[in-house]
Amino acid sequence: MSPRDSSKAVEILPFSDDWMEGYLDLAENDDSRDPLYHKNFSREDTKRQILWQASRGATRAHVVAVQDGKVVGSGRGLLISTCAGDESRIATLNLMVAREHRRKGVGSLLLDSLCTDLRRQGLKGIQLGMLEEWTPWIRFLEKHGFKSYNRTADAVLKPAKQTSVELPEIDAIIRPVRLPEERGVITGFMNSEREEELPWACAIIPEFWTTGPGSEITDPKGFLVAEDKKTGEVIGVAWGSTFTDESGTHGMIEELDVAKGLLKTPLRRRLMLQILDWLWSKGVKDVQTRVHIGFKHEEDLYREIGFEFLRPAALWRKSITAGGG
Ligand SMILES: CC(C)(COP(=O)(O)OP(=O)(O)OC[C@H]1O[C@@H](n2cnc3c(N)ncnc32)[C@H](O)[C@@H]1OP(=O)(O)O)[C@@H](O)C(=O)NCCC(=O)NCCS
Repeated sequence: MSPRDSSKAVEILPFSDDWMEGYLDLAENDDSRDPLYHKNFSREDTKRQILWQASRGATRAHVVAVQDGKVVGSGRGLLISTCAGDESRIATLNLMVAREHRRKGVGSLLLDSLCTDLRRQGLKGIQLGMLEEWTPWIRFLEKHGFKSYNRTADAVLKPAKQTSVELPEIDAIIRPVRLPEERGVITGFMNSEREEELPWACAIIPEFWTTGPGSEITDPKGFLVAEDKKTGEVIGVAWGSTFTDESGTHGMIEELDVAKGLLKTPLRRRLMLQILDWLWSKGVKDVQTRVHIGFKHEEDLYREIGFEFLRPAALWRKSITAGGG
């Protein structure tokens, strides 16, 4: 039997609880995890995420590839709320194929099945972020008609770059966030600032502060708010967090943004330096973040502060509407 023929024995089936353990085995051995955000996902984290996304209605399609009763692949299409609102109707693709079953057509079968299902639901496209160096993936995406869009890179700041630079003078008050009373206004600020130039970016959802990523904010000094001195309006935010892996505890800049009209002022630099101070005070061994290339001069600021850029990546997207390429 040629490798191609063996894919005939693979069945594509809707995901159900019966396949959960097999799915988790597959995810545990996944070598294509997001190296910044999902690198340390435990089996339990993965299960929690799957159940949470399904319960929120974000999981629009989920199929598994099964051979001899074993899960050898999985494809999910998630409709995450984006800053462009519901009109964008672009699903995020999450695809895994067990190592020994690759290059036998399994990934293509899963993708075709997902696209058919998502198209029936009226969705317009499918997308995922991919590192440039993962060439098998890039070949796969190109073969299936995906095109690359917005580029990103992961930026790392080493402690050697920690300098006692003077904080630039600014015309704003920087203070710790006040929770829960500021949830609404800060969510609104973050979404409106992302909307214009990053329409595909995930919007901050109301659950953010209670069950989502923001729920870990226990020290308000790690979430700074810049307030206009005269009007009291929120004009900037900076959010830092920490994560631990086998090499130690690292800092992460989760969010750093100022109102569009203030991009050319020192406010963003000031917020960055203050959140870095807070992160170094936690004893982190470095600070990491994902930077958008060609967006709001973000790249220039991070380079200026001394961040090194690694892991270039891009967003890959394809239309799934009838006749769409
Ligand atoms: C990308 C992936 C999901 C594709 O699933 P798959 O079942 O292997 O894909 P298919 O067999 O349906 O391949 C379809 C097409 O994609 C392209 N492709 C897939 N894997 C490829 C590879 N390793 N090299 C070059 N092209 C590849 C080919 O064009 C292939 O068609 P062909 O076999 O007729 O030439 C799967 O291979 C995978 O998970 N790879 C991860 C590898 C990786 O980069 N990991 C990163 C950390 S090391």
